[in-house]
Amino acid sequence: MDIDTLTRAQANAELAALAQQLAGANTSYHTDDAPVMSDAEYDALKRRNAAIEARFPDLKRRDSPSDVVGAAPAAGFGKITHSISMLSLANAFTDEDVQEFDASIRKYLGLGADTPLEYTAEPKIDGLSLSLRYENGVLIQAATRGDGSVGENVTANARTIADIPHRIEDAPDILEVRGEVYMSHADFEALNGRQQEIGGKTFANPRNAAAGSLRQLDAEVTRARPLRFFAYAWGSLSAPLGQTQWQAIRALEGFGFSTNPLTIRCDGPTEMVGHYKAIEAQRAALGYDIDGVVYKVNDLALQDRLGYRSTTPRWAIAHKFPAELAWTILEGIDIQVGRTGALSPVARLAPVTVGGVVVSNATLHNEDYIKGLDSKGNEIRGGKDIRIGDLVQVYRAGDVIPKVADVDITKRPDTAEPYEFPDVCPECGSDAIREPGDAVRRCTGGLICPAQAVEKLKHFVSRGAFDIDGLGAKQVEQFYTDGWIAEPADIFTLKERYGTGMQQLKNREGWGEKSASALFAAIEDKRKIPLARLIFGLGIRHVGESASNMIALHYGTWDALAQAMEDARGQEGPAWEDLIGIDGMGTVMAGSLVGAFAQEAERASILRLVAQLDVQEAVRADTTGSPVAGKTVVFTGTLEKMSRAEAKARAERLGAKVSGSVSAKTDILVAGPGAGSKAKKAAELGIETLDEDGWLALIAES
Ligand code: IVH
Repeated sequence: MDIDTLTRAQANAELAALAQQLAGANTSYHTDDAPVMSDAEYDALKRRNAAIEARFPDLKRRDSPSDVVGAAPAAGFGKITHSISMLSLANAFTDEDVQEFDASIRKYLGLGADTPLEYTAEPKIDGLSLSLRYENGVLIQAATRGDGSVGENVTANARTIADIPHRIEDAPDILEVRGEVYMSHADFEALNGRQQEIGGKTFANPRNAAAGSLRQLDAEVTRARPLRFFAYAWGSLSAPLGQTQWQAIRALEGFGFSTNPLTIRCDGPTEMVGHYKAIEAQRAALGYDIDGVVYKVNDLALQDRLGYRSTTPRWAIAHKFPAELAWTILEGIDIQVGRTGALSPVARLAPVTVGGVVVSNATLHNEDYIKGLDSKGNEIRGGKDIRIGDLVQVYRAGDVIPKVADVDITKRPDTAEPYEFPDVCPECGSDAIREPGDAVRRCTGGLICPAQAVEKLKHFVSRGAFDIDGLGAKQVEQFYTDGWIAEPADIFTLKERYGTGMQQLKNREGWGEKSASALFAAIEDKRKIPLARLIFGLGIRHVGESASNMIALHYGTWDALAQAMEDARGQEGPAWEDLIGIDGMGTVMAGSLVGAFAQEAERASILRLVAQLDVQEAVRADTTGSPVAGKTVVFTGTLEKMSRAEAKARAERLGAKVSGSVSAKTDILVAGPGAGSKAKKAAELGIETLDEDGWLALIAES
């Protein structure tokens, strides 16, 4: 309706509707990364709102969209590179896992079963982690975890959280405090109530509400949301906080942080599990969500020795609470085709609430699982198969995909038939076959299978890979369907093809000038890519994120890797030996890697991609001054002062490559008592051989 002809009442009603619609659009865009309207529509609504307000200034609302600052779509948070990565935790599910954790630590440190070893035990808060940097006692930066190495700059938002001090007294010059942002149950209920009243987005659970509230571009919105913070860890420090985890937490408390009151010290697995049970019993009454108990080695010097695996510390573990369960009807089974061609059965369920989240899909793993068999052909669930129409038990644990766990065959409808797993790919019609020993049936269509191609693309843009802002699974799917991108290389020619001319990205539904140029810039930004991310992004079967890092560090450059893959094609000879000599590399992974480069179509697609990129050489952490940086070391025989695992980790920290076999490329062999054929081979090849003390003396210089 023409603004000039609006009555006062009509104007008032429309302003209310616009406020609601634009607030909703903001939330969808910023919080869910799922825009509900194009930039152009958004702008048009905002202009109309402003025009009505200009005609009836006294009707302007207190929550007028004209006053919403910083909420323009296409803006985003700045990025912060964490000075020390923010890691996740390995999980334990049973009491035995906790004993195993203690045993593995003792083994790694070479401690006998009787040596005292203290741990802390504390609730695992179900929120999102945040790193706060204080310089000379002043809060200067707050960053989300992000992918662990780069997070989002949410400093202005963090400053609105009452539990986070802006200034602290007598702190080290540099102090990074880490902990969890969360929302209490009461505040969550109240927030959802308010959101419902204004027609805004409601949240599925307190964790989502906390994440959505912290990641508001307008810090004033965050201020209005009651967030809390528990400190439980730290990053960079200019001075230690204490000698133990316990002392460090007390120090953080002294600086004014909230720390969890259910944290205790334990002298071993029995007490740890005891505390787990005590916390579990109080869980419902705590007033905030927790999803387990975290155990940490108390002595910080031991934590230091234990160090890290690729994404988790060895000195801590999360003992998770059991998954939540519910029963519902299995309405259908869909087959999804993954990036490596795997046909995965997905249960379509009558929606059911499991632990506060509505679940309507769950995984059924593979065809044997549906039949009631495990990967070795043994019966599971007492051999009961699962049929469409059955009453099934669904469970979910934390963020993982819900699973179908059990079936109640007493409720089975008479008409239910055994499920017949397809032997052709439902997406491309190619044969779907099962290789001997593989639990999974796979489509043989390769790159001609649209499902594989699109899943490969989704993997390519995912977090651990190219992580292109504004290009998520949904966008990739749309571009693929419309023929804009068929393979990763096409992403890097998108601007050339759709930046100008007849068909342009900015004119696509859901896109506008700003979002299109932001995407082109984000793509440009990723042309320069670390080798490890490229390897992971290729989505080669068996080659995960940590393997990609390992491979990148081994070869250093793309050219060296590509050449080695060419030379190792026949799966024999020095290049192959060198590849499988990488510590942690098995013949299956090596075969898959070499296979990807040997397959003509795949190889051509990889080369087209690399032609678009500037691949960064893989560099080890700063190891200047290390006497073993860049050297290839092999350990053999018995080590007496530390376990093999610790020796390897220390060598790697000093920039050495640790290999499992002796070859002409080996620089140092560390041979303990009982060394056999490897020592002999090293002697033949004239390789420097040290005993354990010699090795320790060598690395002690650094
Ligand atoms: S310690 C180096 N302690 O759990 C490990 N994490 O699953 C530092 N979390 O990313 C983490 N409560 O966001 C630690 N008491 C607690 C925790 C906790 C919740 C989160 C944290 C971490 C995730 C790992």
